[in-house]
Amino acid sequence: MTTKTLSFPGDFLWGTATSSYQIEGAWLEGGKGMSIWDVFTHTPGKIFQGHTGDVACDHYHRFREDVALMAQLGVKVYRFSIAWSRIQPDGQGQPNAEGIQFYNDLIDECLAHGIQPWATLYHWDLPAALHLEQDGWLNPAIAGHFDRYAAICFEHFGDRVKHWATLNEPWVVAILGYGKGVFAPGRVSDSEPYLVGHHLLLAHAHAVHTYRSQFQAEQQGIIGISNNCDWREPASSLPGDVEAAQRALEFFLGWFADPIYHGDYPPSMRARLGLRLPVFSDADRKLLLGSSDYFGLNHYTTLFAAEAKPGEDLSLAANGNGGISADQDVRLFPDPSWKFTTMDWAVVPDGMRKLLHWIDKRYGHPPVYLTENGCSCEDLLVNGQVDDQDRIDYFEGYLQAGSQAIQEGVNLKGYFAWSFMDNFEWASGYDKRFGLVHVDHHTGKRTPKASFTWWQQFLQRGATFT
Ligand code: GAL
Repeated sequence: MTTKTLSFPGDFLWGTATSSYQIEGAWLEGGKGMSIWDVFTHTPGKIFQGHTGDVACDHYHRFREDVALMAQLGVKVYRFSIAWSRIQPDGQGQPNAEGIQFYNDLIDECLAHGIQPWATLYHWDLPAALHLEQDGWLNPAIAGHFDRYAAICFEHFGDRVKHWATLNEPWVVAILGYGKGVFAPGRVSDSEPYLVGHHLLLAHAHAVHTYRSQFQAEQQGIIGISNNCDWREPASSLPGDVEAAQRALEFFLGWFADPIYHGDYPPSMRARLGLRLPVFSDADRKLLLGSSDYFGLNHYTTLFAAEAKPGEDLSLAANGNGGISADQDVRLFPDPSWKFTTMDWAVVPDGMRKLLHWIDKRYGHPPVYLTENGCSCEDLLVNGQVDDQDRIDYFEGYLQAGSQAIQEGVNLKGYFAWSFMDNFEWASGYDKRFGLVHVDHHTGKRTPKASFTWWQQFLQRGATFT
């Protein structure tokens, strides 16, 4: 047996991730208000077979069992999200004591097991009242509401939470929630995503400013944002295709990272979107510039990108893969010989390595945390076991790509497997499974999969393969 040592520094943070709506359940318990995902999932026709997160993994009641399993897994850090509507049921006003208590208990449980909590403030479950009464992310006032909610979290949890993320994947909120309408709140528009994206960025910047000016010196934590991006491989070496791939990345990741690292949207977006892309004031620009202590990246897959010719079918991009495709003139397509997950996402580890280099170069060698990476598989429970070799292969490939990127000079500092357990996979409901732990969604029973054991041994061996 040969052992392959990968290049991960000793202080590399190994973790696993979840989000509140996807696992907690208890949708009307503990003084929680409704979120836009509660409303959306209860709207007929929106979610696979009408599934909802009402119960989900019942983590709200079973979190101690879940944290104990995480400790068995051997991760150093757990990335979870806080449900805004548990903390402020209507999105404004006094904090709800039961909500504060729940996250206090969860954080304490993690620490008691030697696991550091990594808290995301917003993983898409906006308090419904803010949407119904004030147009949610369409209204610039949202930045102030988010900032006040964030301050409550820093105040109550910041003595123990040393890693914060403001937002998870603002691109998804903007494009899938306000462009394609497939995620909550279900709006369909070609222009709203850019307005929503603008307000998401400002909300992020205000919360970071609050943390830095009022809490960071004493609490000594770090704060940032988790953006998502696939890799876009040029379909050929023709300049049109090379530019198309670059443009696709700028409309995807550059949209949310350029303002933070460069102080404005990518010039390609400015040139193509004109007045549909809001303008930052000097004060906004100042607030945004440098507003992340680390680069959080969620990455899953890769597609080829080609320059779109007039009249070409852009349907793959139109599905949401590429944002608003007509704005980019990019045609996206996979190589049919690639392996695909049950989400139909291609498994291309080298795409992640290339994306890490793209980030390293464009954003000046930032410390990067892969805050999500993982895959959905068939995952059949047979005789009490799930032999998810496909998932193990996926992780091996992507970890090798991450290790190579480090050897090549990228400042990668941590990795979170998505997800700790099977959970509510948004529009796909419980049909898609991403977990290291299998969850029987009727009984709630947890069964660690083969990939769980693989991770456990990988971590015990100090990040090596055999
Ligand atoms: C991410 C998201 C997660 C999870 C994952 C798999 O975009 O942050 O909540 O669902 O994708 O689809």
